[in-house]
Amino acid sequence: MEVRTVTPAQRSAQLISGGGLRHVAFIMDGNGRWAKKRGLPRAAGHKAGAEAFRRVAHYCRDIGLKYVTVYAFSTENWSRPEAEVKGLMLLLRQYLDEIERTADKEKTNIRFIGDLSVFDRSLQKRIADLTERTSVYPAVLNVALNYGGRAELAHAFTKLAADGKREITADDISSALYTAGQPDPDLIVRTAGEERLSNFLIWQSAYSEFYFTDVLWPDMTERDVDAAVEEFFRRTRRFGGVVESEK
Ligand code: FPP
Repeated sequence: MEVRTVTPAQRSAQLISGGGLRHVAFIMDGNGRWAKKRGLPRAAGHKAGAEAFRRVAHYCRDIGLKYVTVYAFSTENWSRPEAEVKGLMLLLRQYLDEIERTADKEKTNIRFIGDLSVFDRSLQKRIADLTERTSVYPAVLNVALNYGGRAELAHAFTKLAADGKREITADDISSALYTAGQPDPDLIVRTAGEERLSNFLIWQSAYSEFYFTDVLWPDMTERDVDAAVEEFFRRTRRFGGVVESEK
């Protein structure tokens, strides 16, 4: 008799194809600690973190996740030492250079969410062009850059007020966010043992499941993604109601 073994990737893909998990968001934490453990500068941790980001983003797409969001640089991260900020910006620019060349092979709609107005116009145009050019692809990768949940909400309310809205519904707010038109994250993963949201997707996470792991972000592997997916499918989501089996 032939015994077929299912690989972990196939198992995750099967679970995802059954529905319920469309959007996973990652808080990529622990780059600094990863570097410190190795006696390396923090910049080395961010470089390894950028590699982990590529690995995880590819894997998520391959197992059929339609939306992936990563917290790459927050509105609060500007307060880090200048050299560290510069290093992170360099990594992000290198990623943009790379993805402009490879986006069509990746078949992913790349979006940068956050207040991009602080960046020079040519960079903003490159990002807008890339998003537009890749909008034909159904898999979405949001890179949160100069992103803060409170700033995003303030921006959304300002936009709604400018549009003359006086009675604002929850749907109006969702439609004015950087993630307009996308499903809310079903699952938010945070690495490196911290258990907080840190101003990430604060509106969109109202009913998200949270998954915390001690793995430092640069060590994050495909198997760690599988573990998060498995755990998600063990949870019962109620969205404030009662599920059939509990009635
Ligand atoms: C948190 O770790 C991580 C960040 C503030 C930056 C995340 C950025 C990357 C993973 C690189 C992104 C690059 C691309 C191309 C998207 P930390 O420095 O706060 O770690 P620590 O808490 O251990 O000090």
